Amino acid sequence: MPTPKRYYVTTPIYYVNDVPHIGHAYTTLACDVLARFKRLDGYQVMFLTGTDEHGQKVEKSAAAAGLAPQAFCDRVSGRFRALLETMHFSADRFIRTTEPDHIRSAQELWRRIEANGHIYEGSYAGWYSVRDEAFYSESELVEGEGGQKCAPTGAPVEWVEEPSFFFRLSDWQQPLLDFYARHPDFVLPQARMNEVKSFVAGGLRDLSISRTSFRWGVPVPDHPGHIMYVWIDALTNYITGVGFPDTASDAFRTFWPADVHMVGKDILRFHAVYWPAFLMAAGLEPPRRVFAHGWWTNEGQKISKSLGNVIDPFALVETYGLDPVRYFLMREVPFGQDGDFSRAAFITRANADLANDFGNLAQRTLSMIAKNCGGQVPKPGALQEEDQALLDGIDATLARMRAHFDVQAIHLALEALWKQVAAANAYVAAMAPWALRKTDPERMATVLYVAAEAVRKLGILAQPVTPDAMTSLLDQLAVPKQARNFAHLGTRGRLAPGTPLPQPRGVFPRLQALEESV
Ligand code: MSP
Repeated sequence: MPTPKRYYVTTPIYYVNDVPHIGHAYTTLACDVLARFKRLDGYQVMFLTGTDEHGQKVEKSAAAAGLAPQAFCDRVSGRFRALLETMHFSADRFIRTTEPDHIRSAQELWRRIEANGHIYEGSYAGWYSVRDEAFYSESELVEGEGGQKCAPTGAPVEWVEEPSFFFRLSDWQQPLLDFYARHPDFVLPQARMNEVKSFVAGGLRDLSISRTSFRWGVPVPDHPGHIMYVWIDALTNYITGVGFPDTASDAFRTFWPADVHMVGKDILRFHAVYWPAFLMAAGLEPPRRVFAHGWWTNEGQKISKSLGNVIDPFALVETYGLDPVRYFLMREVPFGQDGDFSRAAFITRANADLANDFGNLAQRTLSMIAKNCGGQVPKPGALQEEDQALLDGIDATLARMRAHFDVQAIHLALEALWKQVAAANAYVAAMAPWALRKTDPERMATVLYVAAEAVRKLGILAQPVTPDAMTSLLDQLAVPKQARNFAHLGTRGRLAPGTPLPQPRGVFPRLQALEESV
């Protein structure tokens, strides 16, 4: 039986009381690019994102705002939903952990883990950081300002002593190591896989998974007074989103296990250690991949609320337009590594790759056609070797992009594509259709046809990263909406000679003028 073409990609669910910044937008953007690519490649895609709404941190913020926790969540969750609209994220569901289907799902996961004997009752005494929603051992703590004890993340910790249920994580050391050995690419980049393996090889302590000292969370089934540790609740969103506990449902059978959980490096341990252990303990399959991306700094500085240098994605898009922002974030930094957001680098990159390379190619091809071919797709003569070589080169990029996307090397996929943009520019420069106008109009028509075909193919392939500009470009080539997926590369979606084309207009404006204004 052929492998069903399905693809399930998730973002972390964002802390509902955070204000969306560039780091959040980055994680979701990467998933959006992967999801769009797979849809265009004929896959049935499920792309899940949402908000993480329980826990002590939210309870405290709600109290500070003078609201009941649910009312508080209802008020602020929309900020992340708004990001989907602004960034044109094509998520299939925006999940909120306060939704009834999720609460049911988290409770059922607990029941299964408990029924399989992996949970016991005890009491917890140790350090907890509300900001990180994480437990820390004494040896992990560092000295903060004024000699205060802090988590390694810099977050303050407090001593917690309360009755608690525990997950027998220590039993999962060997099964996890075996699982990693069977799936050497479970975590990417590879260096992060190694970190996870050595963490697990160093020994695992049982995990406190319920709290009794506050109320805002999913009630532990059959044990009144306990609420679930927020990470168990939060991680479960990935299976709620595909229909758990109904494991016989179409959604669950089609999409679980997930193909990629995209996460920042800071939350890798939760996804690559705890989550597969919970799932195996419940008799469910772990996800196929956890990809840990790097962190952004702002002009060389760590991004933090206290430094006041948080980059607001809404303002960025408002100032520069969406596509340059999407392209820069995905192209500038090797995906998986840390990167620096510098305005100068952003403008240089957007102008070089978008306005100059792709923009000029499209603009000069379309305007020469408008001027010299009566505004219609020209009729080509027989293709020469160099014509065919250009078109074949672009078609062959799809296989390369697929291979890069399968290991989430998004920057390499874009690099491969932009090599073809350069090849198309070099072709136009070498063929000099403007010079052929008088000497050989037939050849000019062929060259312009080939250039237009090149632009069409490049436009189809660039849709995942710069969807708006490519929609406009493909409109300008009168490519029907249903002929814009990857099945229409090759000759299948070929432009029909004689098709009238609308007046061309630029798709990637230069950003120079804006530079001074920000
Ligand atoms: N609620 C948890 C996730 C639960 S998933 C079951 C959480 N939320 S978060 O809102 O704090 O972070 C969400 C994502 O944003 C993480 O993947 C994190 O790495 C990412 N980023 C936050 N700041 C970032 C940068 N400065 N740069 C890049 N990404 C960063 O953790």
